[in-house]
Amino acid sequence: MAGKGFGYGKVILFGEHFIVYGLPGIASAISDHTIAIVEPGTKGLEFIDNRPAVEGYKETKKAEIERQMKALAKHFKINPEKTPLKITLSGNLKAASGVGASAALATSIARALSQHFGLGMGDEQINEAAYEAEEAGSGTPSGIDNTCSTFGGMISFRKNLEGGKNEISQLKLKEPLKIVVASTGISQETKKVVEGVKKEKEKNPEKFSKIFREYEHVYGEALTAMEKGDIQKVGKLMSHNQKLLEEIGVSCPEIEEIISTAKSHGALGAKLTGTGRGGLVISLAGTAEAQEKIMEAVRNKGFEATKTELGKKVKD
Ligand code: MEV
Repeated sequence: MAGKGFGYGKVILFGEHFIVYGLPGIASAISDHTIAIVEPGTKGLEFIDNRPAVEGYKETKKAEIERQMKALAKHFKINPEKTPLKITLSGNLKAASGVGASAALATSIARALSQHFGLGMGDEQINEAAYEAEEAGSGTPSGIDNTCSTFGGMISFRKNLEGGKNEISQLKLKEPLKIVVASTGISQETKKVVEGVKKEKEKNPEKFSKIFREYEHVYGEALTAMEKGDIQKVGKLMSHNQKLLEEIGVSCPEIEEIISTAKSHGALGAKLTGTGRGGLVISLAGTAEAQEKIMEAVRNKGFEATKTELGKKVKD
């Protein structure tokens, strides 16, 4: 029997990189998702990647994907020489840095393997398998990506640095957030960027602890503003979060060009989302008209951009 599984994409609204160090963050699944089909193969692990992707993404991520596949085979105790498998990926999530594509890959394959082998795994177990694949792929992941990818919805997340259960709570917003997601077109390996931040932190511990304290304040205010539906404030805090990301060195000129274009066309706030040094930028709009205007302006600068609403329950 062929097994089929899905994994949502995600965007991080607050806290990328900071969450790796046990600070809290806010992220939301998006309805775009990856679909995996697992069926008997003829030799070893045959991997067919039909996902739409930004140019260069699949090449940049080749080694990371291989490490993820190995980790999944290990987790499911599969010996591909004895049990050849064909794994095919598709779906409407355009693979790009920042959108949780690697977590969606891991989650969708874990679900498909569970179905193929009749394991009946629940979400918690799928999430654990996907986390292991993320760990093999990107070093020291916080776990926010696979959690969003598995469970969907909007969450507040804090990694348990002692290895116990992470703190995860579903958030309910007064109003969904109108977001423009724009792509710099640049792909990054999360592992490299996360390691770069770690080195900087080791060199400048005081600078980082000051930034971390400031970020915690941003997070607390953001949580309240989102729950109250104060989107002007949410926008300001997104921009504040972006400044802190610039200070830890994960921004780049393309990100900043998108941000300034979005802001000069009415965005209430904007920031990079996910890994950074490329990848994606999210901008918050106050109205549907503003959202349209921001998207057009960013596109006119030559960047791909789409609209989405965050904080609604996503559907399969
Ligand atoms: C990547 O989407 C987000 C990072 O914070 C890494 C992680 O949380 O694992 C950069």
